[in-house]
Amino acid sequence: MKTLQLKDRKFALSIPEVQIQQAVKEVAERINRDLADADPLFICVLNGAFMFAGDLMRHININSQITFVKLASYEGLLTTGEVKEIIGLNESVVDRNVVVIEDIVDTGITMERILASLKNKGARSIRVASFLQKPEALQRDIRLDYVAIKIPNDFIVGYGLDYDGYGRNLRDIYTVVEE
Ligand code: IMP
Ligand code: MG
Repeated sequence: MKTLQLKDRKFALSIPEVQIQQAVKEVAERINRDLADADPLFICVLNGAFMFAGDLMRHININSQITFVKLASYEGLLTTGEVKEIIGLNESVVDRNVVVIEDIVDTGITMERILASLKNKGARSIRVASFLQKPEALQRDIRLDYVAIKIPNDFIVGYGLDYDGYGRNLRDIYTVVEE
């Protein structure tokens, strides 16, 4: 079993690169079919989705644009904890068919905020393409249009996802090993 150490934690290989690339290609093919005439605006949510977006877009062959946003986090504005706002969205989404590209949907709280914000900004339609999803962790009623791979409720790193900033460069996905 291939393992690695990031800071104080040990991780074991769980999803190899070939499986990732196949799943990403399949998502791209579905988007190519579904949105062929929709002139979509892809919105990549940084930092985590950078690798997924890069590989996905290489398989996208329809008329489309891509832009990149970050989420600003605030503490204590709501009793529920973190409130996130989209920053860096310079393009108008008014009347656009938007596809949000995310690395992972865990509780769904982040995605719920993004969807509310884009709706508020006047997008015509909003779809979600998430590389990973943890179905067992979902706490919000949101529709995920494209999910490349579903995973159990364990902490993972690699392919854009990090542990305290480390591990984003890994080509494979690794799962934390509880010791
Ligand atoms: P949510 O708001 O609970 O859906 O969390 C989404 C965000 O949490 C993602 O965009 C990731 O940044 C982070 N996240 C959730 N699970 C993991 C994981 O297993 N590894 C790394 N980051 C994660
Ligand atoms: Mg993220």
